[in-house]
Amino acid sequence: MKGIILAGGTGSRLFPLTRVVSKQLLPVFDKPMLYYPLSTLMLAGIRDILVISTPVDLPRMEQLLGDGRSLGMNFQYAVQDAPRGLAEAFLIGEAFLEGGPAALILGDNLFFGEALGDILEARCAAASGATIFATRVQDPTAYGVVEIAPDGQAVSIEEKPREPKSDWAVTGLYIYDSKVTQLARKIKPSGRKELEITDLNRLYLEAGELSVERLGRGYAWFDTGTPESLMEAGEFIRTLQKRQGLKIACIEEIACERGYITAVQVEALAKNYASTEYASYLLNLARSKTGF
Ligand code: G1P
Repeated sequence: MKGIILAGGTGSRLFPLTRVVSKQLLPVFDKPMLYYPLSTLMLAGIRDILVISTPVDLPRMEQLLGDGRSLGMNFQYAVQDAPRGLAEAFLIGEAFLEGGPAALILGDNLFFGEALGDILEARCAAASGATIFATRVQDPTAYGVVEIAPDGQAVSIEEKPREPKSDWAVTGLYIYDSKVTQLARKIKPSGRKELEITDLNRLYLEAGELSVERLGRGYAWFDTGTPESLMEAGEFIRTLQKRQGLKIACIEEIACERGYITAVQVEALAKNYASTEYASYLLNLARSKTGF
């Protein structure tokens, strides 16, 4: 399974913060926002990742993450030159995906929860169809909304409905089988001239191949698209990290835990972060593994 992080858009809901800085490079407490969706894909066991962004922002992301080799990963980069919708990711990523299945995560979506990686890995291993991840929200009108039957099957899916049929929002994390590129080609631009991910999901729904994974009470989901939600996400990360002494979305730690890199490599990577608390965290991690 390969992964795509879609980190495009103008971030207009965050102006003036994002007038000259990419939304996905803004801080969520102690890390750039991109680390969070990247870590979610890494926890799913995905090692080949395509980052898609605007022509202006993509070079900065490449500068931040590189080719991934130092993490035992493979990162590639591709441009979306205009905001033509989330489903365009599969057309831009066609050569990268080589006709295979794909997980897509939005660059401003942050997930947290016990054993999330295990759930994602199991869903990635599923042979066919698509999986969306839904969570209850107070105001579903800002999101894709899925109506779910008592047996857990998706009944309907709508993009930002005025009168939502449920309070289950569709989060920005999607897993698709190898039909995805072919189906993405069938979608026509919506009223706002975008290839909507919800239209792609509806094609799977109509074929009886859309599964919904409900993320219940034990999970937190943030989309960090407004100043308020960006701050809330940062506060959440700060509070949890401080209390537990464990970092969330520390990509070097995940790479080490999954056996992609050694503790000695983690120690070397700590040097990228000068004498920060993040660097000390990596050094402590490396020491706890090597016993020195
Ligand atoms: C997009 C999707 C929407 C989904 C949301 C999650 O909305 O179109 O279905 O619920 O991401 O973050 P956007 O953020 O582009 O408005």
